[in-house]
Amino acid sequence: MDIKSFIANMPKAELHLHIEGTLEPEMMMSLAERNGVELPYNSVEEIRAAYEFTSLQDFLDLYYQGMSVLQTAFDFYDLTNAYLTRCFAQNVTHVEIFFDPQGHTSRGLSFETVLDGVTAALDEAERNLGITSKLIMCFLRHLSEEDAFETLEAALPHQDRIIGVGLDSSEKDHPPPKFMRVFKAAREAGFIAVAHAGEEGSAANVADAVDLLEISRIDHGNAILDDLTLTDRISAAQIPLTMCPLSNLRLCVIDDMKQHPIRRALEAGLLATINSDDPAYFGGYMSENYLAVQEALNLTHDEIRQLGRNAYLGSFMEDSQKAAALANFDAFASANSP
Ligand code: ADE
Ligand code: ZN
Repeated sequence: MDIKSFIANMPKAELHLHIEGTLEPEMMMSLAERNGVELPYNSVEEIRAAYEFTSLQDFLDLYYQGMSVLQTAFDFYDLTNAYLTRCFAQNVTHVEIFFDPQGHTSRGLSFETVLDGVTAALDEAERNLGITSKLIMCFLRHLSEEDAFETLEAALPHQDRIIGVGLDSSEKDHPPPKFMRVFKAAREAGFIAVAHAGEEGSAANVADAVDLLEISRIDHGNAILDDLTLTDRISAAQIPLTMCPLSNLRLCVIDDMKQHPIRRALEAGLLATINSDDPAYFGGYMSENYLAVQEALNLTHDEIRQLGRNAYLGSFMEDSQKAAALANFDAFASANSP
């Protein structure tokens, strides 16, 4: 099977996906109309034309503005459902989804409005499409520690649905120490911890996220490769990295896809994975991310296979589910490798 078909047909797991980042311009327009929300755009083309980012902050400003059209549980259901339909079409069999409760509670929505809509779609996709899922809520790092504690409090009754806490938004001015206490409380309450680190920030941020926040997975982690000692340490501990090639290109973390560090990450023994981050804003879902990096770096079947397998290995599936998913993946890979 040629490499493009191999990517399209390979069973895939997505571990770094912001559900609010799947809001396509068409849905943004239709929800704005449904909910009577004013947008500073008159057409889908105008929205797309605005997606020329020069930095993470540049993107975040539009991402928070875009979210304002999401008002009801039904909106969150529609959003999640549209994403999962795309997953099915791309042979994504398992997803671990982030949501940003503070992006919504700050606009007067209840935590439950968001959760009910998202989980209704996740449950339906498991029943109808066989896609399994986990849900992780992120603290917005540009907001205060106190605000994060309030969000943790709101999540406590929902631990049957939310497995973990993450940390996203502006990395540069909000390094990990600010969230040490709330992450400790979250871990003590039974949540798994992950954090965005080393996206725009330095290798030191990644080390702090690992040491101070005690995270089980690193979101992005590109900067790890700037520090040999840290690379060896993360590699020895096999802490998974959820890398996002098209996101890195569109947010100018790299200037050219040929500079993407994912092959270097594999060569260093890191448990690197490929993910889409905010696909509606960055020009591609899972298959497009695999294809972009495969073409730019001329990744081999074996490297693609390793990246695909790493995603199941690095997932938060229960052991028996993970073993079954890996067996399914390995059967595909051995039947279709050259
Ligand atoms: N929120 C949504 N996408 C993000 C990213 N790539 N980095 C930080 N915060 C985010
Ligand atoms: Zn992200």
